Amino acid sequence: MNRATLIFLGAFLALSFSWAGLLLSNVNSYGGLAPHFDETDNKAYPAQVPGLAAQGAQVYADLGCAYCHTQQISGGEPSADLTRKWGERESYARDYIREESVLLGELRVGPDLRNFGARDSTAAAIYLHLYNPQIETKGSTMPPYAFLFTTRKIVGQPSPLALDRVKVNVPAGSEIIPTDRAEALVAYLLNLRDSYEYPVEKQKNTPPKPPAAPHGAAEHKPEAHK
Ligand code: HEC
Repeated sequence: MNRATLIFLGAFLALSFSWAGLLLSNVNSYGGLAPHFDETDNKAYPAQVPGLAAQGAQVYADLGCAYCHTQQISGGEPSADLTRKWGERESYARDYIREESVLLGELRVGPDLRNFGARDSTAAAIYLHLYNPQIETKGSTMPPYAFLFTTRKIVGQPSPLALDRVKVNVPAGSEIIPTDRAEALVAYLLNLRDSYEYPVEKQKNTPPKPPAAPHGAAEHKPEAHK
């Protein structure tokens, strides 16, 4: 074997081992994560994503919402995300294990949506926002998704999902209603909620207690030294 072949082989092996190591260490730490079964309320967490919300995840991915919205609450002390009330706790890898594709996002042009379902928003308000963000948020840079809605003649009772006609331009006798895709997307957004505290992650994140005071020290109140 000549020198060039040896150098090539050496470099090839070094690269493949580090690549395999990188892959396996991730599989090892995240691949084995399973839902946690809570015996006090007889439920598994994270919960299964309901069918309509799972369809909505696909709509969210197709429309590129993840270009402007992240879905990952940062931790640390202090956490800017928790201060902004974007979540009740930081995100854990276990939060995402039920999801077909994880839509973490990279840029935060808009707010993080990981815990959006816990904010007090209603389906009606989200429809209106998707139809045209400018209606309630003047100057918003979020694009309108009016193509997720259709205008139709009212036949019989108006649809309970129709956009508030005081807020949108709609001819008399017609109404603007969300399409199936919009309904799925809103079900998905309202289902985004990570508030359950997993015992394992909670313990990992609880700072260790300061060491116990030396024997007898606890009995002395500060006043005793005055
Ligand atoms: C070009 C960037 C951009 C894209 C793409 C985008 N958004 Fe937004 N979004 C924003 C900005 C900026 C805001 C904050 C201003 C506002 O409320 O309109 C926002 C706000 C929101 C809010 C309200 C969040 C809150 O905490 O009140 C929701 C929900 C939302 N977007 C959902 C979506 C969905 C769903 C999509 C895809 C269909 C999407 N956005 C696409 C920029 C974007």
